[in-house]
Amino acid sequence: MDTKIYKINRENIEIDKIKEAADLIKAGNLVVMPTETVYGLGADGLNSEACKKIFEAKNRPSDNPLILHISSIEEINDLVSGINDNAKILAKNLWPGPLTMIFKKSKKIPDIVTAGGDTVAIRMPKDKIARAFIKACETPIAAPSANISGRPSPTNADDVYFDMNGKVSLIIDGGDSDIGIESTVIDMTEKDPVILRPGFYTYEYIREFIPNVKLDDSLVDDNKIPRSPGQKYRHYAPKAKMKVFVGKNAASRIEKEAEKYYNKRDRVGILAFEEDKLKFSNYTFISLGDRDNLEEMSHVLFTALRLLDKNGVDIILAEGVPDKELGKSIMNRMKKSASGNVEYL
Ligand code: TXA
Ligand code: MG
Repeated sequence: MDTKIYKINRENIEIDKIKEAADLIKAGNLVVMPTETVYGLGADGLNSEACKKIFEAKNRPSDNPLILHISSIEEINDLVSGINDNAKILAKNLWPGPLTMIFKKSKKIPDIVTAGGDTVAIRMPKDKIARAFIKACETPIAAPSANISGRPSPTNADDVYFDMNGKVSLIIDGGDSDIGIESTVIDMTEKDPVILRPGFYTYEYIREFIPNVKLDDSLVDDNKIPRSPGQKYRHYAPKAKMKVFVGKNAASRIEKEAEKYYNKRDRVGILAFEEDKLKFSNYTFISLGDRDNLEEMSHVLFTALRLLDKNGVDIILAEGVPDKELGKSIMNRMKKSASGNVEYL
C-alpha cells in the first residue's frame, strides 16, 4: 500500500484535504490523525472490518480495546448507555482535551472496539485538525496510538511513518504533538471513578472536579496488576535496554554507570536534564529540558526514546522524577519503557 502524507496547517485547515481523508475513512481505510497527546491510528469506529485493520497494522493483541474519538459532545449519546453526574462534570470542564472516559457501551458499538467487553472508552480531543477530521468522517473514529504495539507512541509524522509506512492509506501531518504522552483514562462506571492510566490531567487535578476519584491500585503499588488491558503489556519500549534512576544523586550515578558500560564497549545513550549536559559529553545525550519543567519532559520523552534507538545505542540510562502529579504520568511510561528497571536513590 502506498502511504500518502498530507501536511495540514492548524491555523488554516485546508478543508479539501480533510474531506479526502474523511472519504478514505468512509471507504473503510486507515488514516493517521494528529492529536494534542500523540498521533492516533484512525478507522471508522462503527465498522468492524475497518477496526480489524487497526489491530493488524499495529500487531495489537485483540483483548486490548480501542478509544472512540468524537468531535462534539452530542455524538456521545448514541455510543453509551448512560452518563452519570461525575462524567457530566468532567465532560463539561475537561473536554475537548486529553481525557478518555469509560462508559457502559450502547448496542451500536462493534465488539472488536471493546474487545468483547460491555464498556467503551470515549475521548473528545482538543486538536483542531483532529476534530475537523472526525466531524468530516461523520462517524466516531477508533484510534489507538499510531505505533507498532509495544513501541513508544509517535508524537510527530516522521515517527508515525517509521512504524506505519505501507500499512495506512494516509498520515495527516499536523506537526509535533503538544503534550507528548497519552490521555488520562478514567473508568466512570464505578461509584467512585477510577484513573486507569494517568496522563496530562493528573489525579491531583481531576480531584478538584470530582473529589471521590481514585487511582487504580496498580498506580499506587507497582506489584499490583493493572485493570486496564493496555496497561498490562510491555510498552513504550525502545530496542535498547533501559535503566531509570530517580533521586538527588541520579545524575552522578548515571555518570558512573555510563562509564561502566562504555568500558565494556557498549554504546551508551543518556536521557537527562539540560543542567547535567556537560557531564555526558562523551555519550549520545538527549535533553529532557529543565528539571522542574515536567511538561517539557513529557513533550520530549517518546521522541527521545525513538531517537536513541535510531542512534543505535545498546543501553539507555535515564533520569526519572518523583512519582506525583505529572511526574506520576511520566514515570508510568518510563517504568514500562525500562521493564520496571527503576532505582530510587
Ligand atoms: O491520548 C490518547 O489516548 C491516544 C490518542 C490517539 O487519542 N490514544 C491512545 O490509545 O493512547 P491506546 O489504544 O494506545 O490506549 C488506550 C488505552 C489502553 O490502555 C486500553 O487498554 C484502554 O485505553 N482502554 C480502552 N478501552 C477501554 C475499556 N473499555 N476499558 C478499560 N480500558 C480501556
Ligand atoms: Mg498505545
